[in-house]
Amino acid sequence: MPNDVVRRGRLAGERSGEMMHFLSSMMADRHIADADILVDIAHVMMLAKQRILDSETACGLLSALLALYDDGIPESAFDDRFEDVHAGIEAHLVATLGEDVGGRMHMGRSRNDEVAACIRIRLREDLLRQLAILGRLREALLAIADEHRETVMPGFTHLQHAQPTTLAHHMLAYEQMFSRDAARLTGAFARVNCSPLGAAAFASTGYPINREYTASLLGFDGVIENTMDAVASRDFALEVLADLAIMMTGVSRLCEELVLWTSSFVRFVTLDDSFCSTSSIMPQKKNPDTAEIMRAKAASVLGACTAAFTTVKGLPMSYNRDLQELTPALWRGVRDAKQSTSLLAGMLATATFDPVRMEEEAGKGLSTATDLADMLVRTYDLPFRTAHSIVGRAARNGSLALSALDDAAVEITGSSLSKRGLTDEEIRVALDVRKSLDQKKATGSPAPAIVRAAIEERRTKLAADREAQERVAESVRESIGALIRDARRISREQ
Ligand code: ARG
Repeated sequence: MPNDVVRRGRLAGERSGEMMHFLSSMMADRHIADADILVDIAHVMMLAKQRILDSETACGLLSALLALYDDGIPESAFDDRFEDVHAGIEAHLVATLGEDVGGRMHMGRSRNDEVAACIRIRLREDLLRQLAILGRLREALLAIADEHRETVMPGFTHLQHAQPTTLAHHMLAYEQMFSRDAARLTGAFARVNCSPLGAAAFASTGYPINREYTASLLGFDGVIENTMDAVASRDFALEVLADLAIMMTGVSRLCEELVLWTSSFVRFVTLDDSFCSTSSIMPQKKNPDTAEIMRAKAASVLGACTAAFTTVKGLPMSYNRDLQELTPALWRGVRDAKQSTSLLAGMLATATFDPVRMEEEAGKGLSTATDLADMLVRTYDLPFRTAHSIVGRAARNGSLALSALDDAAVEITGSSLSKRGLTDEEIRVALDVRKSLDQKKATGSPAPAIVRAAIEERRTKLAADREAQERVAESVRESIGALIRDARRISREQ
C-alpha cells in the first residue's frame, strides 16, 4: 500500500480497490502531470523567495522536482490508490527526500488551486496547438479557393439548386467560419491563461505568499484575483468547450457536404483513398468514413460540452469534487476537436474537385431565374415583385423562353413584354451562368475578380493571426524555459 500522505492522518480503514479507483482522477491526471511539476517548481521558488521555506529545503525540493522534469515521473506516482497525481508526486517526494524536506512542499497551498493551475497550463498548450491546426485548415481552404476561382457550381438553399456560385466562394465561407473559431479561441486563451495559485483551498493562506510571482514564473498573464473564484470556477473550460463545439459544428457541416459531394448522385469531389474505407462484402465500395467520423466527433464534443456545463451549474461555492469529473470531459473535447480539424485539413488538401460536373449542375433548376427577374426590373422598369411573379409563373409553367415569359407577363400584369421589346437574346444573356456570377460584385460576393481580392485579404489576415499566435507561444515557451533555468540555478547554489 503506498504511503497516502493526504489521507493518512484523518481517515482510517481500508478502502476497496473499486472505491479507490472510483475516487481517483489518476487516469485523466496523466494529462496534467508535467504541468504539475512546473506548478510545484514555481510554488517552491516562491516559498523560498518569500523566505517561507529555508533555502536548503527549497534546494532539496527543487533538485528532486527537476529530476522528475528531466527523467520523467515514476509509474509509482500514478498508482490509482492515490486520489490524484498531486498526492502521488508528493508521496514520491516524501519517500525520496524524507518527510522533513518532502513534507514541506505543500505549505500555503491546496490541491484546489494546484489542479486549477495545472488544467490551465495544459489547456493553454492545447489551445495553441488547436489554433495552429486551424491555421492549416484555413490555408487548405484558401488553396482550394485560389485554384477554383472560376469553377462554377450550384449554390443551394434548402438543398435545392438556388443560384450559381463558385467553389472558391463556397470554400471562403468555411474559411471565414473557421477564422471566427480562431478568434473565439484566442479570446478564450486570455481567460485561460490566468493563475489561481495562492488561492489554496479557497481562502488563501496566512503565509506571506506572492501570487503575482508564481503567476509570472509560469507565464500566466496575471492572477485570478478573488481566491474563491480562483478554485471554484471552470468557466474558462466551459468557454473553450463551447467554442470547440461551435467549431466542430462547422466541421460537421463541411463533412456532411463532402459526404454528399462524393455520392454518385453528385460526384463533385473525389477524396484521397487514404481518407476512405471500403466494404467487407461489396468490393466496389469507396466510403467517406473519415468525414462521417468527424461528423460524429462533433456530437462527442458537444456531449463533452454539455457534460461540463451540467457538472458546474448546480455547484455551491467553492471547490466541490464534482469538478474532478469535468476535467476528463474537457480533454475529450479538446482531443476530438484537434484530431478532427487536423485530419480535415489533410483531407481537403488531397481532395480532387470536378469542375466539369460542378458546371454541369450550376445552371440546373432555373438557377439564374433571379437574374432574369433583375433584368426585367432594370430594362423594363418593373417593380421587383412584379418581375418575380412573372418569372415565377413562367417557371411554374416549366419554361423561361420568350413566349412562356410573355404569357406569364400577360397573366400577371395584363400586358405583353415582347411588345415592349423583350427579345430571346436578352433572356439568353440574363440566364447565362457566368454572366450572372460576373455581376455579383458587392463585398464578399462570388464574382471571380472579387473572390481573387478576398483570397488575398484572407491570406493576409491568416498570416497576421499566425504571427500573433506564434508570439504568444514563444512567450509561454520563454517563461517556462526561464523557470527551469532559474530552478536549476537555485538548486545548484546550495
Ligand atoms: N483530483 C482533484 C481534481 O481534479 C484535485 C483537487 C482535489 N481537492 C479536494 N479538495 N479533494 O479536482
